[in-house]
Amino acid sequence: MSATEGKTTRVFDKSKVTVIFVLGGPGAGKGTQCANLVNDFGFCHLSAGDLLRAEQNREGSEYGEMIRTYIKEGQIVPMEVTIKLLENAMKATVAESRSGEGWADGKGRFLIDGFPRKMDQAVKFDDEVCESSLVLFFTTTEEEMSKRLLKRGETSGREDDNEESIKKRFHVYKEQTMPVIEHYTKLHKVASIDATATIEEVHQKAKAVVEEVFSGQASGNVTA
Ligand code: C5P
Ligand code: MG
Repeated sequence: MSATEGKTTRVFDKSKVTVIFVLGGPGAGKGTQCANLVNDFGFCHLSAGDLLRAEQNREGSEYGEMIRTYIKEGQIVPMEVTIKLLENAMKATVAESRSGEGWADGKGRFLIDGFPRKMDQAVKFDDEVCESSLVLFFTTTEEEMSKRLLKRGETSGREDDNEESIKKRFHVYKEQTMPVIEHYTKLHKVASIDATATIEEVHQKAKAVVEEVFSGQASGNVTA
């Protein structure tokens, strides 16, 4: 028996806080679709990449340079850093909204975007922070993703939206993130959504899947 089995040692209880992970290759449209789902369902949207970039730029951060190097190389930042950033952001959100709008019934909804990118992150988060309810998995071709990233790179200012970094990110995605998708598929928690269509078409599919989670009908893997 593992140390966490049978005990409620997690920071957040799944009956009060719903966590939906959002995965897909770089450029699949995760951030765009999260923004739409925030409008539909009042989620708090936390992007692991955005939190890492903010920490990288925070004055006095002991991790800044390390994060910069990992991101440029498309590598996965050591999980302790990313999980701590997520946990802190979740705690702050729950504390703020306890008496505020939306979550007045004491229940929180989090869309965690770009996480878990690697198996160790998935296991640690589910065991110690909060057990996730679903993985929204946006899929499209590498060609399409590459096209979107290069277009975004014209204005994003991101140090990893260039051809060399994109290649590395695709490689890491296949080697390290696909096993995470397989893991959650075995747990029947994956909703695969073809993200090749227009933003609005993809949005409607994602919305339907999330609606099922909140109406308690979600069960098994689905493909939309
Ligand atoms: O999701 P996004 O494309 O913004 O992530 C950018 C980079 O941040 C990734 O390529 C990776 O270097 C880092 N990252 C990470 N672990 C995560 C999410 C992002 O190391 N869970
Ligand atoms: Mg993003």
